[in-house]
Amino acid sequence: MSDKATLEINGQKHEFPLITGTENEVAIDVKTLRGATGGVVTIDPGYKNTGSCESGITFLNGEEGILRYRGYAIEDLAEKADFLEVAYLLIFGELPTKEELEKFHSDIKSHAVVDDDVKKILDAFPKAAHPMGVLSSLTSALTAFNPTSVNVDSEEDMYNAIVRILGKFPVLVAWTMRKKLGQPLNYGSTSLGYVENVLQMMFKRPDEDYTQNEILVNALDKLLILHADHEQNCSTSTVRIVGSSHAGLFASLSAGISALWGPLHGGANQAVLEMLEAIKEDGGDTKKYMAKAKDKEDPFRLMGFGHRVYKNFDPRARIIKVAADEVLGDLGVEDPILDIAKGLEQEALNDEYFVKRKLYPNVDFYSGIIYRAMGIPVEMFTVMFALGRLPGWIAQWREMRLRKEPIGRPRQIYTGENHRPFKTLDQR
Ligand code: CMC
Repeated sequence: MSDKATLEINGQKHEFPLITGTENEVAIDVKTLRGATGGVVTIDPGYKNTGSCESGITFLNGEEGILRYRGYAIEDLAEKADFLEVAYLLIFGELPTKEELEKFHSDIKSHAVVDDDVKKILDAFPKAAHPMGVLSSLTSALTAFNPTSVNVDSEEDMYNAIVRILGKFPVLVAWTMRKKLGQPLNYGSTSLGYVENVLQMMFKRPDEDYTQNEILVNALDKLLILHADHEQNCSTSTVRIVGSSHAGLFASLSAGISALWGPLHGGANQAVLEMLEAIKEDGGDTKKYMAKAKDKEDPFRLMGFGHRVYKNFDPRARIIKVAADEVLGDLGVEDPILDIAKGLEQEALNDEYFVKRKLYPNVDFYSGIIYRAMGIPVEMFTVMFALGRLPGWIAQWREMRLRKEPIGRPRQIYTGENHRPFKTLDQR
């Protein structure tokens, strides 16, 4: 393949280098385009054809359904690693040794207490507030309690900010749920593993000891790993672009949480469950909802289906589907929603509309069914996604700062009014 692309504008040829990634993905490097052409820019709404950065963290091939973190297959990581090992891998690039992992966990635990005044902020929210709004606000509020900005040229400063947020974030996650349920705010225990601690903080009643259930621990561990990174998606791009202005880590993460909230992104897991519930309430007629999804006059979409990048099975969905069967079986839960989900999946996989558009189940199609079996309220599903995505956001923010990327600032093509004379009030 040639190593240059040629663009002809008004009879003038311009050459641009091609960049090839380690997995042979190719990009046209248009950094010099505007200068060379006297102001021409590219336009690509939704960035469907635009690479925003070079990154060494996550590789995904949507045509073949491949997902790897730092070169390791998602299937191997979900089966053989735990969430904290994966977090370390994503952020620092290599799987930790036993000593590195112990130190990482111990440093995280040493930061797992938040300022008690955070409770006052939480107190001011109405119980009906959506937990994602609360989580985003509390994450942003952490900047007020940890005002020193991170010196990104200092590995130590960077490391301290990372373990601090990994320690405090699960507390905020658990508290948003406890607030919603009207339960007293609590802390976990430094004697527990990271995921066990999350479960204890979320579910421990004030009047009872909490007994860990291995099935729940393993299920949550796997779900968090599967959600931990997904290259330049909407929330990750948000974290990188906010961080590119040199806003702090916590502020960048808070913006990422808001981006994740929407139903086209992380909010889909809540939307899927609500959709499955609605289908059940409506008599379980999946064909009716398939028809609605295909009707261009109807805004309804089959939530949990389709993906910007995957034009094949989302590899995470394959793993989660098996996990959903196992978890519900192990817990002895019979959920009619799972049958509706499987029925919808079968219909979609054999339907011309979905086949032609390469719409397959995505990560969110089955995850809500597991969260529900675990006793997690539906409005908390996207919060659980955020907990899983945290290491990915951190890794991407760190990479962006270490690579000294410029501030993110796209161009536009202006299509508004040309210059016109000002009209005073009585002339309008
Ligand atoms: N139901 C029905 N039709 C769909 C769906 C769907 N879920 N998804 C896409 N289409 C159709 C769409 O109408 C369009 O049809 P046409 O070519 O006739 O106009 C075609 O498929 C391409 O869709 P698009 O909207 O141009 O694709 P996109 O890449 O902009 O959107 C998506 C990707 C994920 C936003 C979209 O598939 C969707 O809205 N899915 C449902 C929401 C969802 O499950 N989101 C979770 C994504 S995975 C978790 C995460 O990482 O965020």
